[in-house]
Amino acid sequence: MKLLIDKIEKEGTVLANDVLKVDAFLNHQMDPFLMKEIGEEFARLFSSENITKVVTIESSGIGPGLMTALALQVPLVFARKKKSITMQQDVYTAKVYSFTKKEENEISISHKWLEAGDRVLIIDDFLANGQAALGLLSIVEEAKAEAVGFGIVIEKAFQEGGNLLRERGYRVESLARIQSLKDNKVTFVEETLH
Ligand code: G4P
Ligand code: NA
Ligand code: NA
Repeated sequence: MKLLIDKIEKEGTVLANDVLKVDAFLNHQMDPFLMKEIGEEFARLFSSENITKVVTIESSGIGPGLMTALALQVPLVFARKKKSITMQQDVYTAKVYSFTKKEENEISISHKWLEAGDRVLIIDDFLANGQAALGLLSIVEEAKAEAVGFGIVIEKAFQEGGNLLRERGYRVESLARIQSLKDNKVTFVEETLH
């Protein structure tokens, strides 16, 4: 997606350890115009799939997830990383290990907001090692809903997440795919440049 790639090139910075900082428009400040375009693009890509629900994880998945849900005219459900006091029981949970933060989080979604037969589009801001995506997938499966595919804003194609999901047969649509962050330089996978 050209708009997103331009934005990454202009406003993204590369930190140590292969991390792309996009606090200017995605992970801290959010650009609502860009989020709107992203939502409409995911809605277009999955338009024939009869999606009934968009699922993401707090916090940075909520922006693109909500815009996608709006464009598809379905609800958004976000998995929580901490159980709220109103949500102690009747939840699906999954353990998600973060290689970046070296910590394990338990994520959860209430039974109430996922139904057997739901056709779910999973949205996230980043796909790196894929642990968050796999956690969301296991929750969707536990609810006997169907994961129709993944919409990812930025895929770090040099990490294993994308392969893990595609090998399992899932459709993964990433709006920007990064080949490398070596030498403080963002190099995109060729195919996403047009
Ligand atoms: P994984 O889910 O693909 O396995 O990712 P990983 O454990 O490596 O990443 C943990 C957190 O770091 C996730 O956010 C993920 O989105 C984010 N992340 C991974 N690589 C990058 C990167 O290059 N740049 C940025 N900006 N983020 C990255 P999170 O902890 O869920 O945080 P948030 O959603 O509250 O922002
Ligand atoms: Na994030
Ligand atoms: Na995220």
